[in-house]
Amino acid sequence: MDDLRKKYLSLISGALDETTLEELRVQAVGKKGEISSRMRSLGKMTPEERQKAGPALNALKDEVNSALAAKKMALSDAALEERLKGEWLDVTLPSRGARQGSIHPISQVWDEVTEIFADMGFSVAEGPQIESDWYNFDALNIPGHHPARAEMDTFYTHREHDDDRPPHVLRTHTSPVQIRSMEKIGAPLRIICPGRVYRADYDQTHTPMFHQVEGLAVDTDVSMANLKWCLEEFVKAFFEVDNVELRFRASHFPFTEPSAEVDIRCSWSGGQLKVGEGDDWMEVLGSGMVHPKVLQAGGIDPKVFQGFAFGLGIDRIAMLKYGVPDLRAFFDSDLRWLRHYGFNALDKPGLVSGLSQ
Ligand code: PHE
Repeated sequence: MDDLRKKYLSLISGALDETTLEELRVQAVGKKGEISSRMRSLGKMTPEERQKAGPALNALKDEVNSALAAKKMALSDAALEERLKGEWLDVTLPSRGARQGSIHPISQVWDEVTEIFADMGFSVAEGPQIESDWYNFDALNIPGHHPARAEMDTFYTHREHDDDRPPHVLRTHTSPVQIRSMEKIGAPLRIICPGRVYRADYDQTHTPMFHQVEGLAVDTDVSMANLKWCLEEFVKAFFEVDNVELRFRASHFPFTEPSAEVDIRCSWSGGQLKVGEGDDWMEVLGSGMVHPKVLQAGGIDPKVFQGFAFGLGIDRIAMLKYGVPDLRAFFDSDLRWLRHYGFNALDKPGLVSGLSQ
């Protein structure tokens, strides 16, 4: 009996899990277990033998049962402990440290630009991306025979002769929102319109879909000087520097007179794009004084009001500010690129808190 005792107590204390323990229980005190069959053999003993062996076997059975129960408790405590360790969570930690998604540089720059112009008193206007050719061209003083229609590499959804509907285009610029805003708000007004535009063009600095911000200010005392100041202030705020070199080049747009294109000094050396240095210039916007015919088309009296307008390439200035040498990569949806150039979603650009940190 001593051997049995030693054997089971040591097996029980060595058991590593509840399954082994259950097997040991069956083996020792189960119906056909070793201790149980000993108890059955009590009947064959003499009364004297039975008197000695009976209580001893009972005591052994009790001892084994309580060792089993104690071990079972210990094993289940250990299992719970293990699980708790695995499921441990520090609820006082700040939310996700590791960045998951990120803000696309275009969205970031869009917000930065909006922030700067909002501070100068411009509100945000919107217009449709599929536009009638009246808004996209005619109202902007680009009649049917005008070469600008061809120059813009326009995507037509359908042309004049396709059916009875008036021709529509994927807007080639945000300028139609000038007309829509004049119609809706009247004068005086000060709006910007960030949005998508489309032209059939594809190379390192052109994609068929890109982004512009239109700006329009109409009042009774607006001049080219206001336009220039506004753009210079914008460019300094945007690039977060005191000086950026701009070049105003006399140009021509049907919807402005006089007109100027604006370039920013930059360098492309070694595949790296840097702003403010070097001998290259990157064209970033078109601008000018709103043509009287355009004011008229928007329902505003050109004898009383004047306006300045500009169209700025969001993608262009994003490339310049964040040193992206190829525009096409913006729209490849390559996760490695997005991780590299993306912005933290929790850092909203603000003039006080900083635009880009
Ligand atoms: N719409 C012109 C373009 O897309 C830019 C522009 C806007 C020029 C407003 C002058 C005034 O090229």
